[in-house]
Amino acid sequence: MLRKPFLVIVLGAMVACGGSNKTDTPPTAPPPPEKKATVSSAAFGELPNGSAVTIYTLTNTNGVEVRTIPYGAILVSVRVPDKAGKVDDVVLGFDRLDGYLGAHPYFGAIVGRYGNRIAKGSFTLDGQTYSLATNNGPNALHGGLKGFDKKMWTAELVDHEGNVGVIYRGESPDGEEGYPGNVKVQVTYTLTRNNELSVEYEASTDKATPVNLTQHSYFNLAGEGRGDILGHRLTIDADRFTPVDATLIPTGDQVAVENTPFDFRRATPIGARIDADDEQLHHGGGYDHNWVLNRDRDGLIHAARLEEPASGRTLDVSTTEPGLQFYAGNFLDGTIKGKSGHVYAKRSGLCLETQHFPDSPNHAGFPSTILRPGERFRSKTVFTFGVTK
Ligand code: GLA
Repeated sequence: MLRKPFLVIVLGAMVACGGSNKTDTPPTAPPPPEKKATVSSAAFGELPNGSAVTIYTLTNTNGVEVRTIPYGAILVSVRVPDKAGKVDDVVLGFDRLDGYLGAHPYFGAIVGRYGNRIAKGSFTLDGQTYSLATNNGPNALHGGLKGFDKKMWTAELVDHEGNVGVIYRGESPDGEEGYPGNVKVQVTYTLTRNNELSVEYEASTDKATPVNLTQHSYFNLAGEGRGDILGHRLTIDADRFTPVDATLIPTGDQVAVENTPFDFRRATPIGARIDADDEQLHHGGGYDHNWVLNRDRDGLIHAARLEEPASGRTLDVSTTEPGLQFYAGNFLDGTIKGKSGHVYAKRSGLCLETQHFPDSPNHAGFPSTILRPGERFRSKTVFTFGVTK
C-alpha cells in the first residue's frame, strides 16, 4: 500500500515531462558560446641574446584586435572595423620581430626616458649639468641610443570584466643614456569593450630626473600600406603651438594657431596646408610640432580627432598631458618595407604623441617634466576607435 502511490507519482511525472517535450518546445540547439574579450600569447621570435619574445593579442567583442610585444612595449598591430565592418590594421610596423630589431623610426613603441628632443643633449638640474648622446643632429631624441623603445619589458596579462590588457614593467638604471636616477616604469595597455585603447604610465625615481613618456604609433586609418595620410581630416583642440628652430627645438614661445597652417581647431585635411610656404613647416618638412592643448581642468581631456573619409574610421585621442606632438611622417622615405612588404613612403602614417613639450628641461616657462624621489609620475592617454555615421 505504501509503494503504489509513489510509483504512480513518479510515472505520472515522467509521462507529463515527455509529453510536454514532444508537443510544446522543440529540442533547442546549444546556445552559441558567449562572445568574450580575450587575451592570448604566442611566440614572436628571439632577441639576439636568445631571449624569447612573446606576442600578446587583445580582442574585444566588437572585432577590435590589438597585438603587442614586450620588446619596446611596441604595439605591433591595431585592427579595427571600417564603416562597412571591414577590418584593417591601422598602424605601420612589421610582420616579424626582425623588423623591430632593425633600424626603424620608433614604430609603435613606448618612447622614453624623455620622448622628443633635448637641445644639444644637455640640461642642468639642481645645479648639475647632464650630457646625453646627440642622436638627432645636434640634439638628443627619444631617450637616446638605446631608449625605452629598445628595452625588453616584463609582462603581466590582465582580463577584467570585458577589459583586457598587458602591464609592462621596466627599470632604467641610474646613468642610463646619461639620465640621473634609478627609474621604475610601468605602462599598461587596456582594450575596453568601448573600443578604447588606453595607455597608462607610472614611474618613480630615486634621484630627480626628467621623464616624458609617449606612444609612437604611426596611424593610417585607411589601413597601413594604403597610401598617404594627406586626406585624413584632423582636429586638434589647441589654440597655441610651440614654434621651433631649424633643429626642431622650441624657441620657448607659445604662438596662436589662428591664421596659420597650424590651426586645426576645425577638422581640416592634413594635406590642405602641409606644403604651404611657411617657415615653421619648412623646419619640420611638414607638421612635426607640439600643440599646447586647451586645458581648463586637470585630468583626461579631448586632444585630437582623426577621420579617414573613405573608410569612415575615426580616432579620438584624450590625454592627461599638456601637449600633443603631431608628426606627419615626413621623414618616411620609402626605404622601409613593412607588413606584407608594404613600402612606407613619405607621410604614409602619422603620429599623435601626447606628451610634455619638447626640451622642457631647458625651458623654465614650460610645464615641468622633473620627477623627484617620493613622487609618482602618472599619465594617461586613451585612443578611441570608431566610424562616422
Ligand atoms: C618624432 C619626431 C620626429 C621624428 C620621429 C621619428 O615624432 O618629432 O621629428 O624624429 O619622431 O622619425
